[in-house]
Amino acid sequence: MDKLVVRGGNPLTGSLTVSGSKNTALPLMSAALLTDGRVTLSNVPDLKDVQTFARVIEVTGTTIEHTPQQHLISLNAGSLTRIEAPYELVKRMRASFYMLGALLGRMGKARVSLPGGCAWGPRPVDLHIQGMKALGAEIDLHQGYVVASAPAGRLPGGRVTLDPSSVGATINIILAATLARGSSVIENAAIEPDVVHFCEMLQAMGARLNGVGTRTLEIEGVDRLDPVDFENCPDRIEMGTFMIAAAIAGRPGQAVEIHHGRADHLGSAFMEAFQRTGTRVEESDSLIRVIAPEELRPVSVTTDIYPGFPTDLQAQWTVLMARCAGNSKVYETVYPDRFKHIPELQRMGVNAIIVGDEVVIEGGKAIQGTHVMSTDLRASVSLVLAGMVAEGETHVLRVYHLDRGYERLEEKLSGAGIDIERVRYDEWADPS
Ligand code: EPZ
Repeated sequence: MDKLVVRGGNPLTGSLTVSGSKNTALPLMSAALLTDGRVTLSNVPDLKDVQTFARVIEVTGTTIEHTPQQHLISLNAGSLTRIEAPYELVKRMRASFYMLGALLGRMGKARVSLPGGCAWGPRPVDLHIQGMKALGAEIDLHQGYVVASAPAGRLPGGRVTLDPSSVGATINIILAATLARGSSVIENAAIEPDVVHFCEMLQAMGARLNGVGTRTLEIEGVDRLDPVDFENCPDRIEMGTFMIAAAIAGRPGQAVEIHHGRADHLGSAFMEAFQRTGTRVEESDSLIRVIAPEELRPVSVTTDIYPGFPTDLQAQWTVLMARCAGNSKVYETVYPDRFKHIPELQRMGVNAIIVGDEVVIEGGKAIQGTHVMSTDLRASVSLVLAGMVAEGETHVLRVYHLDRGYERLEEKLSGAGIDIERVRYDEWADPS
């Protein structure tokens, strides 16, 4: 098993490059199943989740050519025959549940395992199933699988209102609706950039979508979709993570450059809160320069759906607030119990206390390096951020969580001056 060893104290300098978006690459791969030709996706990040999803898709008979280092993946669902997504693969990654909409839309039937996904809280899929039923699917839950079928082999289409607005359910319902016999409407659709970019790919394939980027999405079913080569968008959460890293560990007054990101994908709430800390942001096409202030000001935030403050940056923000001279709160409204990183940060001396759905942070205390445990993707990266400014060494264990969503993080950070390395270790060895 691997861990990351970070020796704190080095400033973050120079530049960081943002990889392709994990949470957009996965829906784009799903869209490839809706046509019977070869689809090539570029700017696909070299991540565990992408590899896992490729294996899920190959179970259907779809052929895949994946060159991770070139950030390319080609999928040809002309050879799609099996309508299965098995538990032993789906349990590793929640987004595998997109197979339900893709197979139901393309083949008129699907047998997909209920998902697993990140550790925190229950991860329901009731909105996904409600949506498929609204489109006219017959759904049976049988031995941990969702068994779905369309009457006469093709969904009629229908109307569904999502409450709460769900990224995954929006994407899954769109996958099922684009090839339906009739029209569909999704009310309170998610409008995250991941969803918008996914819709743009479908439109390039010939899908008829109206209201992309708005809460009311209209989908007019078409008889077929054409293969397309399409470029994935940059990862907004990795970019936000790097911006926070620059505010935390950048030299005051000296710019850290972040390349290939899109600041507009982070939403107004994050950008406003980030600049209220006193950190300066200079944007120009795909370059963002972040200049840390002499003293960071505490800014309380509340997570929300886009364009609200991203829940995927909540853990990273807590570390930023720990560096401020003063108190602040982080209120999590999207997920219950997304605070698995707090006990680990407390072990590092961060004065953060969970009060219901809020974390109250008393900033300004020194952070001490120690051994800490990753628990989920964004929690683990917050431990790396803390280690960058901790006194001494921080060992971030079980870094496979981090490898799901951050490509070559230790290489990128060490290329920007941070003392960090990946070390293999035996979790059960005697620590003496
Ligand atoms: C996507 O998850 C992202 N994952 C998550 O990123 C992200 O945190 C989340 O959207 C919110 O932005 C991917 O895109 C692969 P939701 P998703 O459905 O689609 C509730 C990361 O770190 N809900 O928008 O699963 C749900 O419990 C990951 O990259 C239902 O109640 O999120 C949550 O409270 C973590 N019923 C809220 O909606 C459902 O059927 C939002 O979840 C579905 C969701």
